[in-house]
Amino acid sequence: MSCPSEIHSLLQEIFVDGSAYGQFATVDPNHLPSVRTVHFIAGPNLASIVINTHIQSEKWANIASGQSHVSGCYWSQEKRIQFRFSAKAELIQPKQVEMQPHRLSLWNNMRAEVRTAYILADHNIPLYRANPNVDPVPHSPSHGLIVCRPYCWDIFYEDPKEYRFGKRHIYTLDTNQSWQKKDVSSLHEKDILLYDSKS
Ligand SMILES: Cc1cc2nc3c(=O)[nH]c(=O)nc-3n(C[C@H](O)[C@H](O)[C@H](O)COP(=O)(O)O)c2cc1C
Repeated sequence: MSCPSEIHSLLQEIFVDGSAYGQFATVDPNHLPSVRTVHFIAGPNLASIVINTHIQSEKWANIASGQSHVSGCYWSQEKRIQFRFSAKAELIQPKQVEMQPHRLSLWNNMRAEVRTAYILADHNIPLYRANPNVDPVPHSPSHGLIVCRPYCWDIFYEDPKEYRFGKRHIYTLDTNQSWQKKDVSSLHEKDILLYDSKS
């Protein structure tokens, strides 16, 4: 299953060609939510959104505890479009040998300064040391991947003229794994009067 075909090129522009730093929400075993900023990276065919993370982070622990439903949100200021997704998340553990090439390629795409932080922590070297002499190339055993497979994409097109003209398209995967689209207003998902009736 991929993403909805109608928004494939839009998602490609944002999550493949751009740098999408957005908000990612998880819940803990007591159903308490946490949200934080992450870098959303498109997976193959845009069927997934992947996040690089440290395996000691709370988001990792939340998903590992069995709370695998997650949610993401990204606002493109340039396009004036809000992207939201709901997904099932899977953890790619450092020890998963078959996923090693994929993990390594995402590791190498991380900024060197982020990789440096992982490696310092791995070696118990203070993160705030002024001039740590570490090589950010070796793959950190603390680097994990969160693979999110969206079952809902919610795209809100803000209207440049006026907020009330905004359009929201919600795409949901049905039980046959087909995407169903619902158009809703800028305010909520319920029925709402949009046009004057023709008399
Ligand atoms: C601009 C920006 C981008 C970030 N990108 C990531 C990321 O891709 N992955 C990640 O694990 N944390 C990222 N972080 C850090 C998280 O927001 C968060 O502080 C950290 O992962 C710990 O979160 P947690 O313990 O709640 O899971 C980023 C922070 C900022 C400010």
